[in-house]
Amino acid sequence: MKIIIKDSAADASAAVADILLRQIIQKPESVLGLPTGGTPLGVYARVREAYQHGRGSFAAVTTFNLDEYIGLAADDPASYAHYMSENLFAHVNIDASRTHIPSGMAVDPDIEAARYESLITAYGGIDLMLLGLGRNAHIGFNEPGSAHGSRTRRVSLTPSTIEANAGYFAPGARQPSHAITMGIGTILECRKIVVLATGPEKAEAVAASVNGPSSDDVPGSALMRHHDTTIVLDKAAARDLERSKIRELEA
Ligand code: GLP
Repeated sequence: MKIIIKDSAADASAAVADILLRQIIQKPESVLGLPTGGTPLGVYARVREAYQHGRGSFAAVTTFNLDEYIGLAADDPASYAHYMSENLFAHVNIDASRTHIPSGMAVDPDIEAARYESLITAYGGIDLMLLGLGRNAHIGFNEPGSAHGSRTRRVSLTPSTIEANAGYFAPGARQPSHAITMGIGTILECRKIVVLATGPEKAEAVAASVNGPSSDDVPGSALMRHHDTTIVLDKAAARDLERSKIRELEA
């Protein structure tokens, strides 16, 4: 694991956007794994801006999103499909048929999860996976207790995650309690992983994920097992890391 600590969330987002752009410039037919949530909004804004200035093309890029809520259609404003369209896909030259997100409306979520997993394999796996980190150190929607070898599947969300994400739903809107998420084992098979975490509310999750020990109780700690993971933080999110650990991991 390598670590990059920036002064601000904006600088950390710019660093991650740069990694994404370099990836698609070096390998135009890259397969990207993409996250949602508040944290990557700054990354997508920077990528859109760079694209408008002629940096990077998505013409040959394929994407796989990490997760989707069960019960939300792609046009629901709180769905991750809608988020991706609003924040990235509608603004760049990506071929919609190569943007993949689990369907939240599948009749059988278990079959949908298996289909998604096979599709990732059919595309030859993911070159670069971008990840956020939940306050309880979840990655995708792999909540504490998820096995580090878990595959894409239907999951129940913890009350704390439902509460943390409530702000993304309109007042009175029904908030799902289940999702389909890439598994931790699926994530660990990606060739390169970049995690972005910013703000003091992520400091504990960052420390538990980086300091170890690696355990099923801390989904983010599975990333220590991966040969090419970079965690990009702002100072607030790095607050609880020991200096010696930072020196050891600094890229
Ligand atoms: C959701 C997503 C995760 C994301 C997390 C953190 O639960 N499924 O992939 O990392 O939220 O979200 P935020 O960046 O809004 O804190």
